[in-house]
Formats: sequence, C-alpha cells, structure tokens
Amino acid sequence: MIDSADQKATAQPAVARETVVILDFGAQYSQLIARRVREEQVYSEILEYDVPWSEVEQRNPSAFILTGGPESVVAPDAPHLPPQLLESGKPILGICYGMQELIHALGGTVVPGETREFGKAELVVDAVHSPLLEGLPTHSQAWMNHGDTVTELPDGFQTLAHTHTCAQAAVGDPARHWYGVQFHPEVKHSEHGKRVLHNFLRKVAGITERWEISSFIDRAVEEIRAQVGDARAVCGLSGGVDSAVAATLVARAIGDRLTCIFVDHGLLRKDEAAQVVEAFRDVLHLNLVHVDASQRFLNALAGVIDPEEKRKIIGREFIAVFEEEAQKIDGVEFLVQGTLYPDVIESKTPQSKAGAKIKTHHNVGGLPAIMALGLVEPLRLLFKDEVRELGRQLGLPEPIVKRQPFPGPGLAVRVLGAVTEERLAVLRDADAIAREEIEKEAELPWQYFAVLTPLQSVGVMGDGRSYANLVAIRAVSSDDGMTADWSRLSADTLARIATRIVNEVHGVNRVVYDITSKPPATIEWE
Ligand code: XMP
Repeated sequence: MIDSADQKATAQPAVARETVVILDFGAQYSQLIARRVREEQVYSEILEYDVPWSEVEQRNPSAFILTGGPESVVAPDAPHLPPQLLESGKPILGICYGMQELIHALGGTVVPGETREFGKAELVVDAVHSPLLEGLPTHSQAWMNHGDTVTELPDGFQTLAHTHTCAQAAVGDPARHWYGVQFHPEVKHSEHGKRVLHNFLRKVAGITERWEISSFIDRAVEEIRAQVGDARAVCGLSGGVDSAVAATLVARAIGDRLTCIFVDHGLLRKDEAAQVVEAFRDVLHLNLVHVDASQRFLNALAGVIDPEEKRKIIGREFIAVFEEEAQKIDGVEFLVQGTLYPDVIESKTPQSKAGAKIKTHHNVGGLPAIMALGLVEPLRLLFKDEVRELGRQLGLPEPIVKRQPFPGPGLAVRVLGAVTEERLAVLRDADAIAREEIEKEAELPWQYFAVLTPLQSVGVMGDGRSYANLVAIRAVSSDDGMTADWSRLSADTLARIATRIVNEVHGVNRVVYDITSKPPATIEWE
C-alpha cells in the first residue's frame, strides 16, 4: 500500500451555464440523446428519473428532455415524472415514453396499443408554424418504436404532426413550452430528428450558449486545483487517448505535482512506446516515469495460452509495477483516471452513482481499490469525440489524439497462443504494414489491425516450400465497439497488405481477411 489516506471526494463536474437535464426512464437511447444534444453544442447530463430532486436542482437546468422507456405508463408500477418537474415551469421535450408520461401526468389519455409500431413511418406535419417543427418538410421519415398511444390531449395541447397509424406523433403546449414526440428524433432513421432537437433547444428553450470544449478547460482546471489542493497525484498512462488527455489536463492544473507513470508492458504496437515518451517528456514536458517492464511481463506470460489467463496476469503485473513506482513518490493522495461519460452512464451500481466508477477492464483502472487514493476523473462527463478535441486543444500530438481503441492487455490479445518476443515482433511488423496501407483509404475504419494466429500453413517461396505463420487482418466500422461490421476495404488495399506482409515480414507466408460482423464474432480474436 502506498498511502492509507482516506478516499478523497471525486472532482465536482465542470458544468456549463445552460444545462439540459435528460431524465432517463430506462431508454435504450439515453446516451444517444445526450450525444445529439452535445452535437448541438448544448451541455447535457443524464440523470435517472427518480434521483433526489436536489441533484437536478444542482445543475440548474434550462430545460428537460424525458427519454423513452420499456414500460407502459398505465402499468401499476410504471416509473413516473418527479412531481417537482412540472412545478419548475421549465421547457420539456418528452420522447416516446417521455411524451406519454407527460401527457398522462397532465390528465390526457394514453391507451395500450393493439399492435406495436416499430420502424420507419411517414411523419406528416400539421402545424407548420410550430417552433418545434420549424423547417421540417410536410412529409418526412421518422422512426417509431411504441406500443401505447396518446388518444386524448390535456388542456393547452395541440396536435403538431401525425403518421398513418399514430394520430399524435408530435404534440405541444406552446404557452408552457411543453412538447412531446412519439418518434425518436435521436436516431439517424428519423430524417429531420436533428432539426427537431435543435428547434427544441434553441427555439423552444431559448438556449443561447454554445458549449465548447475550450470553455470546459478553464472550469476543469479550477476544479482539479480545488480538489487536489497542495497534494500530489499520479496518473497511469496506457498509450491511449483517454489517459493521455486526463494527464495533460491535470498537469495543466497542478503542474509537476502530477507524476505520470507509463508502465511499458512491451505489448504496445510498433513505435508506440517511444511516441508516448516523446509526447509527454519532450513535447509536453510532463513529469514522466517510464518503466520498461516488458521482460517482467514476458516472463509472467511465458507458456500461457488461455486469453483470460493472459488478461489476469497482465492486470496483476500492471498493478504491481504501478504500485512499486507510485510508492517511490512522497505525498501522493490522488489517482487520475481517464474514465469517460459512457462508462459512468453504463454502470448503474450504487458506487458509480456516488461518483466512484472504476473501469473493470485491465487497463489503468482497478488501481484505487488497493491504493486508497482519491480519484480525479476530469473526463467523466465527456464523450470520446469531445475527449479527442480536448486533447488537440491541450496540444497533444495528433497520433495520440487519433489513436484507435486499443485493448489494455495490448498485443497479448492479438498474438493468439504463446506470447514471445519473436512472435510479438512478427505481429508488430505485420500490423504496421496493414495500418499503413489501410490509412491510404478514403474513409478510415473505426478499428483496424493484424492478428497473429497460432496456425502455420504451406506455401512456396522462390524455389522452395515454406511452412510459416498465418496473419489475419481485421478492420471494422462501429460507433462504440458494442456492435461492428467488417469494413469493405478495397481489393487493391487488401492485395497490397498481403503482398507486403509476406514479402517484408519474415515468418509469414499467408494473409487472410476477417469478414465476420459483431455479433456473432467479437472485434478482437483473443
Ligand atoms: P470485443 O473484442 O469484445 O472488443 O468485440 C470491443 C472493443 O473493446 C476493445 N477491448 C478492450 N478495451 N480494455 C479496453 O480498454 C480491454 O481489455 C479490451 N478488450 C477489448 C476492443 O479493442 C474493441 O474496440
């Protein structure tokens, strides 16, 4: 243990002047709504529909969005609006369940539908002058997913749009700035959904602030200073963008009282470790401890084939090395982590609600449990694209800012079978070629890399017969890694990758391309 200091409070979030609170009724799309609102440059946060009202008030919301949800508002134990919501008098947009709940709470009628309406529908605008639907064509496509429908509107409400099967597809009470849409404006299949959200935020709610990452920096720096005081902090760098940005931001606040510890497990891609050291030491001039622990990790992994076992070993060694290094620094009371907003939202545990979510991956997370340090998580309210933008504004080099998602256990999950120095070298060279060629394509996949399989096969090389390794190439498009489709790389790109790998990487005589989507496959092979 390096320090038995009491668990320190997590940094208070840096907030905007005008915030939209998204009350979550258990929707599949809550995160997407928050992202779309941020894309409109309006700061938004998701809170569960039943949080204590004081938490809502703390954000001083300018407007509310009520999400969809799986329940029926007329079911006995359906989740209902917090009573203070309507009293607040603030503008409201209810989406799907959120709309039904708003109508129900105001005395309108919602009835269970005989059939569920699911998929695309033609939205017909009835109230062309409504601020919510301004700029929409009279006919457009919208995406529906509901069972119940609104049949009678409360006083003050009027129908704004309908579909063939849904008489109340958009409704509103312009005097009170309360609106509802039965369709899902946040999904791309709703052609003008973006416009509807824009209209709600700017025209109905009258929000004028344009929330930008630059305005986030100053507030975040102030809050980090207030939290850390005169103490010292450590941050584990993984080589990825999240920990890099978190460290850079905290360094801006507390300077050399932050020590970055880069545990180099020897499982990074070609030249990556050198890039991290150069960026942090030479470009950003941060206090960096670079521990080359590759031999230690290789020893621990010797002969291990099972992927879960590999992950466990790497996680364990990582923590051990990190702790050893952190112990050498006096007065450390805080640990900086690059936790992002999706991690925070996805975890519904009571602990995360209290603001202490720890990544469960074998990344740089999992440390505070044994170290009794306070957590500084300056990115916990940001989405990935916002973190990249923040990194750029903080002066991080582009190769780090643009880095693809990369598993914490690194190439150990891409060298199938035994992990040895020789096999890592083969994979690194093959992977570098694959990436270089794929980066010549007009559109970059979300993630793209090479995998060294444990298979050997026969080939002909010159006059002789070869028996050498099989390399697989994986390239996928995805939004969040939860689902993915294989990228339709051009045949020329694939041909160049195969020719170059077989010619330039000693020990490989065959290259295949993975054409499986996720599900049923995963992105990594392991
Ligand atoms: P799978 O293979 O499960 O991967 O489809 C989904 C995404 O997660 C990444 N991945 C990890 N990321 N720590 C991480 O931070 C890990 O241990 C880890 N394992 C997989 C993977 O690269 C893909 O983007």
